[in-house]
Amino acid sequence: MKKHNKKLVIANWKMNLLKDPAINLARKISEAGDISVDLVICPPDLLIDSIKSQTNISLGAQNCSAHAEDFGACTGDISAAMIKNIGCNYVIIGHSERRKYHKENNDIISAKITNAHKAGLVAIICVGESLEERQEGRSHDIVLNQLSALPPTSTPENTIIAYEPIWAIGTGKSASLTEINQMHEYIRFEKDFKIVYGGSVKCDNAKEILSLGQVDGLLVGAASLDFEQFYKIIK
Ligand code: 13P
Repeated sequence: MKKHNKKLVIANWKMNLLKDPAINLARKISEAGDISVDLVICPPDLLIDSIKSQTNISLGAQNCSAHAEDFGACTGDISAAMIKNIGCNYVIIGHSERRKYHKENNDIISAKITNAHKAGLVAIICVGESLEERQEGRSHDIVLNQLSALPPTSTPENTIIAYEPIWAIGTGKSASLTEINQMHEYIRFEKDFKIVYGGSVKCDNAKEILSLGQVDGLLVGAASLDFEQFYKIIK
């Protein structure tokens, strides 16, 4: 089994922060010393350019267009090529909030991943089961089905898997260490890619989750919006 040494922490700011507080937070993070992980911040798209010009933080978007064209009549969409051009190297695809609110299915997610790869972005693919699916013992099948959206262009260099059980997102109840390690092991058996965990990661559980053998990093939501808390995580 392949080992990915340096841990990766990805901040998913979701639909949060106005311009000035966002720049301030990004500045504080970029100027903080003692950071022992690789770091990526995924702000709302409208803030990417300002943060890019004022910090040296590695950036990602939270979504990209599923349409095959880089440009065209797709009102409201932002293409993977545009995301790359503005200075991002990453894009989150298939987050459970997008699966839920925007009805994203495997076909849409697969098209988005293909576009991300074509643009030269690293695609961060979110997978994870609901509480009901876990209670019914279907977690592995659900995740396996979600992994089937990965197109043939996917490699360990251009794809990261984020295991985010839906019941752990924003609930304050992260998955247990055993649940995390077991699911990551299962995913790695299918795809030997970098695998990060997300779902109620806070400064008081980040260290033990990161110390798990199967965990290559974290995808952090709410706790990434608070400098003091996030700094403890990335230290
Ligand atoms: P929370 O850390 O707020 O639970 O969110 C996790 C998440 O959805 C990251 O993508």
